[in-house]
This record gives sequence, C-alpha cells and structure tokens, in this order.
Amino acid sequence: MLNESLGLEGKAAIVTGGGSEGEGIGNGRAAAILLARAGASVLVVDRFREFAQNTVDMILKEGGEAVAHEADLNAEDACRATVTAATENFGRLDILDNNVGISSKGSVVDESQADWAKVMRVNVESVFLMSKYAVPAMIDSGDGGAIVNIASTAAIRPRGMTAYSTSKGAMMSLTKGMAVDHGPDGIRVNCILPGPIHTPRLFAKGMSDEAREQRRKSSLLEIEGEGWDVGNAVLFFCSDLSRYVTGQCLVVDGGMSLTTRPRSSGVEERRGGALS
Ligand SMILES: NC(=O)c1ccc[n+]([C@@H]2O[C@H](COP(=O)([O-])OP(=O)(O)OC[C@H]3O[C@@H](n4cnc5c(N)ncnc54)[C@H](O)[C@@H]3O)[C@@H](O)[C@H]2O)c1
Repeated sequence: MLNESLGLEGKAAIVTGGGSEGEGIGNGRAAAILLARAGASVLVVDRFREFAQNTVDMILKEGGEAVAHEADLNAEDACRATVTAATENFGRLDILDNNVGISSKGSVVDESQADWAKVMRVNVESVFLMSKYAVPAMIDSGDGGAIVNIASTAAIRPRGMTAYSTSKGAMMSLTKGMAVDHGPDGIRVNCILPGPIHTPRLFAKGMSDEAREQRRKSSLLEIEGEGWDVGNAVLFFCSDLSRYVTGQCLVVDGGMSLTTRPRSSGVEERRGGALS
C-alpha cells in the first residue's frame, strides 16, 4: 500500500508512553514506529528518557523522523510542555496517541485511595490534559486531526483490577465525548481496547511461561497479542483509511472478550497485576 493513501506524510504525532522497558515492542513503541514508517514525524514521550530514546533510535535507523521527550504526564505543566515540544520540533500537530497507562492490583477493599488517585491521574487525567492542549494545536495546524486513546478490555471485562478497569472505562466515555465536541473541528477521536498483549512491561516483570500460555489461549485464535497488533490499529485510526470513523472503541484481543467467562477472577491474577 502506498504511504500517500494513508495521508500521513508530513504529519506530526505525539505518542505518550512511547518508550518501553527493555528491548521489546510495547504498544506505544509499535505505534510510534508504524506512524514514522508511514511518513509522520513522531515525538516519543516517556517518563524515562532512555526508554523514549531507544524507540527514537529504532525509527532513525529506518530513516524516519522522531524526537525523544522526557515527561511524567502526571501533571498539567508536563502535558502542556509536551504539546509545545511537538509544535516546536515539527511546526504542527496532527496526531495524538494517548497510550500511557499504569496498572492496579486490587478490589475496592484492597485498593488504597492514593493508588486509586494515581491510576486515575495517569490513565484518565493525562488523556484529558494532553487533549486539552493538543486540540488547539491541531486546529492551528489547519488540517483536522486524530486522537487515539488506548483503553483495555479490562473496561468491559473487569476482574479485580478495580482502579485500572474503571480508568479504562472512563477513557471510553471520554473518547465519545471528545468525538462529539471536536468532530466539527475535523478532529476524529477513537479508542482501542487491547486484550492480553505481550509487551515489555509484562515480561520485564518476569511473567511465567504458564501465565503467558494462559493469555495466549484466551484468544479465540490461540495466538499471542503483540504490540504491533495495537500499533496497526492506531495506524488505522490516525490515517485517512478511517476518515469516516470517529467516537468508536475497537477491541483488539483475538476474540478473547467474546468468550463467556473471564480468564480468571482469582486472587493470584489480581495480585499479579497482569494487564489487559
Ligand atoms: N500489555 C497489555 O496486555 C495491555 C492490555 C491492555 C491495555 N494496555 C494498555 O496499553 C498501554 C501501553 O501498555 P504497554 O503494555 O505497552 O506498556 P509498556 O510498559 O511497554 O509501555 C508503557 C510506557 O509508558 C511509560 N509511562 C508510564 N507512566 C508514565 C507517565 N506517568 N508519564 C510518561 N510515561 C509513562 C513507561 O515508562 C513505559 O515506557 C497502556 O495504556 C496499557 O494500559 C496494555
């Protein structure tokens, strides 16, 4: 497929949480690489500069354009400065992949108020704040825009990761509200709900082979979800291929969430904090 048909040549993107722990391919890293391959310039944002720089190095090696930006998107100033960094580096902003996310482990009984607040701040408030500053920058750039919010199947199949599931459900509502508000500006807003994806965060935590196999088998296709699967969905939502699509939530889970029972609602998995 020709890159011109994706409409991403000369566009500028921000990917939050675009670094990855270790050498592997996280959801944000995959999206950043695929957007760059399609011709976009990408600001790769991570709270660890080294994680972001590794992604940038991968993009530069392929001849793409990318800049690393260190920011903890925990606070308004950091979100505002991140949007400014994109417009200063690339002269415009067209795409925002709100990929940053942290997990939680407990039921309402287990969860502390401080952990609940942190998960809501990083997973939901960062989307609100990044979008608050990105939307005007997209309007100024004059060519509409695309925002993609990375939620999770945990939003529709909660299982003992209360703060995480709730935060991801809020992202679905936020997506629809933003799509309604900013459609007239030519800005499309969509959401992705990944199922179990084998990303660096999980294998860096030392996920057992057994748990990995259980996650693979939860897919109706019995294949393992990879960062590239989420990255390709981001690419679709950011490109002209989805020019008539906004306010939608796409499940990327190999059919896992169609099965009647959740993988587990047991204490062990809750405490393991496995993402999905
Ligand atoms: N891996 C899965 O199974 C899975 C399933 C469903 C949804 N998701 C979602 O996909 C997204 C990416 O997850 P991943 O598994 O690829 O993770 P990952 O660890 O590979 O990448 C996430 C990156 O975000 C960065 N980050 C975390 N908090 C930050 C902050 N406050 N400010 C800036 N950067 C920060 C981390 O340093 C890390 O580099 C998350 O929103 C996650 O909830 C993942």
